[in-house]
Amino acid sequence: MQRVVCPGSFDPVTAGHLDIIGRAAGLYDEVIVAVLINVTKKSLFTVDERVEMLGQVTARYGNVRIERFHGLLVDFCAANGITAVIKGLRAVSDFEYEMQMAQMNYRMAKVETLFMTTNPLYSYLSSSLVKEIARYGGDVSGLVPELVLGLLRERLAEEE
Ligand code: PNS
Repeated sequence: MQRVVCPGSFDPVTAGHLDIIGRAAGLYDEVIVAVLINVTKKSLFTVDERVEMLGQVTARYGNVRIERFHGLLVDFCAANGITAVIKGLRAVSDFEYEMQMAQMNYRMAKVETLFMTTNPLYSYLSSSLVKEIARYGGDVSGLVPELVLGLLRERLAEEE
């Protein structure tokens, strides 16, 4: 079985993430979306909320599974029989850091990284920008799945 992991923070999942996950689901037998549990980074949504959102927005794909992980991605890969990571590349600015992580993951555990070019519709999109724009009342419809749009509004309203 050809299995690939799509790791990230997904705080929250965007249309860009979903595009990569869906395209990866067409290429691999199984795609595991792995949400990083990062206790040092302040997040808008809890890991449970992010896992739940991802589950709902990827429900149409029968071969996508949502998991959570902490520690090193290569350890998660080893524990789950995964030999490759898939990442979306938006722009040259992503490249340097992604390349560094890819080479380090390969050095540590021979885990391969495949880069998928982002749909140009979403090449400027990031979870951080979505949160910032939504926080100041900007329109982020079309940039996140409908479900996330509602949850984002609710969460930001709670913060006020
Ligand atoms: O969505 P993000 O925050 O850009 O995702 C980054 C992520 C989760 C892919 C990356 O931070 C990661 O793999 N973290 C796990 C810790 C790890 O393995 N670090 C060493 C990387 S070489």
